[in-house]
This record gives sequence, C-alpha cells and structure tokens, in this order.
Amino acid sequence: MARIDLGSVSRPAGVRVVARAQSHIPAIAAAFNRGDVAESTLYHLPRSHVALSAGYEGGRRHRTIRNFTILRHKSVVGVCSLFAPAFAGVQLAIAIFDAASRGLGVGRFAVSTLCDVAFDELHAGRVELGTYPDNHAAIRCYEACGFSREALLRSSIYHNGAWRDLLWMAHVR
Ligand SMILES: CC(C)(COP(=O)(O)OP(=O)(O)OC[C@H]1O[C@@H](n2cnc3c(N)ncnc32)[C@H](O)[C@@H]1OP(=O)(O)O)[C@@H](O)C(=O)NCCC(=O)NCCS
Repeated sequence: MARIDLGSVSRPAGVRVVARAQSHIPAIAAAFNRGDVAESTLYHLPRSHVALSAGYEGGRRHRTIRNFTILRHKSVVGVCSLFAPAFAGVQLAIAIFDAASRGLGVGRFAVSTLCDVAFDELHAGRVELGTYPDNHAAIRCYEACGFSREALLRSSIYHNGAWRDLLWMAHVR
C-alpha cells in the first residue's frame, strides 16, 4: 500500500512531540489519575507515579517502548508511545489530556510524527492501534494519518463495568 502523503499535516502553534523525560512524569500521572482520558483510554487506572517512572525507565533501558510527551507552549498536554505490537509491526498509543488542546490538529501532528519514527527510524512496515468504535475524533485523526480499519475485536476489553468492542486499525507502509 502506498504511503499517504502527509504533507497536509502541519504543526499546530507551540506544539512539540519530544522524548519523555522524568520531569514530565508528575504531570502525566496527575492527568491520568484525574481521569482526563478515563472515558476513552485502554489503560488501567489509576497509574502510580512509581509505576509510570518504572515503565519510563525500563522502556528507555531495554528499548521496549518509545515514550514521547506532547508539549504545547511548554506544558505537558498529552502522551504518545510506540511499543511492541499485539499483531505485527509496532503499536501506537496517544492521549491528549488537555481538553482545550483537542480538535486543533495536535493528535494528527503527533500520530504522523510517530509514524515517521516507526517507518523511517525503526524500519517497521506497519503501525497498529486499537480504539473504541465510538471514539469518532480518534478514528478521524487516525484515518487522516493513513490508518485503515482492519477488524472489530468484540467484547475485547473490560472498561467501566462492561465488556467493550475494540476497533483495530493499522497504517501499512
Ligand atoms: C483522540 C485524540 C488523540 C485526537 O487528537 P486531536 O488533537 O483531538 O485530533 P485532531 O484535532 O488532530 O483531529 C480530530 C478530528 O476529529 C474531528 N472530531 C472531533 N470530535 C469529533 C466527533 N465527536 N465526531 C467526529 N469527528 C470529530 C475533528 O474535527 C478533527 O477532524 P478535522 O481535522 O477533519 O476537523 C484526542 O482527542 C484525545 O487524546 N482524546 C482523549 C483520549 C483518547 O481518546 N485517546 C485515544 C485512545 S485510542
């Protein structure tokens, strides 16, 4: 499949996607544990500062996960990562904590930046991810970055007292 031309993905003002640093962890832990993305995240919450720090350190040392922080005007507004896939290639996850920073193209910029890392640096041929089928903003963002819908994994994740379906998507180089 041809790689989609992402020339239209521009960097929203003041936004940077940077390698995660320990100094970002308190803001990330606080945002997860306030429930800023509890509705749509696939993560188990709450996440302790210790667990987040250990995950960050372990991933950095063993190169099992590439963690990034999304900054907007130097504030931590979100996170995104590349890690071992469920099926093939590398898996991508993203969460923008700050509601005022959503819908501005930040997600599109971060996802396309991580796809560039996956394809050009890691030489992966495929980037995959899962999302809830009713997360329309996420699906639109991923499709704009070249992802296609691959499968509906039924009753795949237990969230908020119910089993929910997961839409599996991938971007293939
Ligand atoms: C999903 C998420 C990463 C997307 O990032 P974002 O910066 O908000 O996305 P973008 O602004 O780049 O693109 C979102 C698109 O969805 C559209 N959109 C927003 N809400 C929508 C809705 N309810 N229905 C349909 N489209 C919607 C936006 O208009 C935009 O499309 P457009 O640029 O063509 O107008 C971000 O919203 C987020 O982190 N949400 C909370 C956590 C989460 O859901 N993480 C993903 C888990 S899989």
